[in-house]
Amino acid sequence: MDSPFGLLAELTYRCPLSCAYCSNPINMASYTDELSTDEWRRTLAEAAELGVLQAHLSGGEPLLRRDLVEIVDQAAGLGLYTNLVTSAIGFSRRTAERLREAGLDHVQVSIQADAPVLSDRIAGIPSFQRKIDAMRLVKELGWPLTVNVVLHRRNIDRIADVLRLAEEVGADRVELANTQYYGWAWKNRDALLPSREQLAQAEAVVREARERLSMDVLYVIPDYYSKYPKPCMGGWASRQLTVAPNGEVLPCPAAQSLPLPKASIREQELAEIWTDSPVMNAFRGTDWMPDPCRSCDRQELDFGGCRCQAFQLTGDASRTDPVCHLSGDHEVVAAAVAAAQQPVSLQLTPRPHRPQQA
Ligand code: SF4
Ligand code: FES
Repeated sequence: MDSPFGLLAELTYRCPLSCAYCSNPINMASYTDELSTDEWRRTLAEAAELGVLQAHLSGGEPLLRRDLVEIVDQAAGLGLYTNLVTSAIGFSRRTAERLREAGLDHVQVSIQADAPVLSDRIAGIPSFQRKIDAMRLVKELGWPLTVNVVLHRRNIDRIADVLRLAEEVGADRVELANTQYYGWAWKNRDALLPSREQLAQAEAVVREARERLSMDVLYVIPDYYSKYPKPCMGGWASRQLTVAPNGEVLPCPAAQSLPLPKASIREQELAEIWTDSPVMNAFRGTDWMPDPCRSCDRQELDFGGCRCQAFQLTGDASRTDPVCHLSGDHEVVAAAVAAAQQPVSLQLTPRPHRPQQA
């Protein structure tokens, strides 16, 4: 068994924004008992010991953690490459300088669109200008900057303008990330899924930009439109792990929704969870696979797709991801894609800023 390479540290699910495409869990109230600073220190130390090389500090909005500088300091001290994944709300000059001093290596700032009105409408609060200011500050302080835009039906037609904006702020990399339908995004899927025509136009813009621009342009088509599923997480519990705000350890951020036994950093050491826990071993390797994956020559390429998506779409996490055209359940994906070719007038449900008690 390989060591995990990357740790996604979801420091909190609280967030000043309320994007309807958020992949945080719907049941955020289960995550209010956030790990303390010392518990995160211990988690990071155990992750480094286990072989983790990169720590992605994410959320929610990680800047809402008052101890973010201490957490970065610990991760950097352990030799981990640290990446802050942020909406940039709360990224003041003082905080940025303290993070720089603590050893933060990279900053990824999300923006909702290239135009202030649309960006603010999607984010749920006036935030566009603060994001632009933060991106400039990231560059001024010498960090590599990734600009991340989650794409969906309401902003995918603006990729050319988004790329212009990323160029203007001096981004090193732009991540055009089609919405992944988990959590709140799953609830809003039918209002977010773009049409085939929108995708064709987006791809043409991306192709042209890749030839012209020196910055990296990352773009992956939404898997609903692919013939084969995405190799989710590079395989279940293969190279990545996630620690949720309450210390739950998962092979991916969406796996909390699966009916699997829980494992927590509060009860067990990370190495033991990685190696022996039922949640990590549930879909490791290829032995668990049913047909058609069991007899398919792509099983080591896409690992049967995404377990969380299989569960969402079929109620059974061990089935072939219905995105695959060979899956017996592919019709559920085909129906969603067919609906997306028609005009859509559905309202979006924004995610709440903080977990709401039931
Ligand atoms: Fe991948 Fe399974 Fe589809 Fe083969 S049948 S392409 S392994 S999802
Ligand atoms: Fe959980 Fe794909 S998101 S396996």
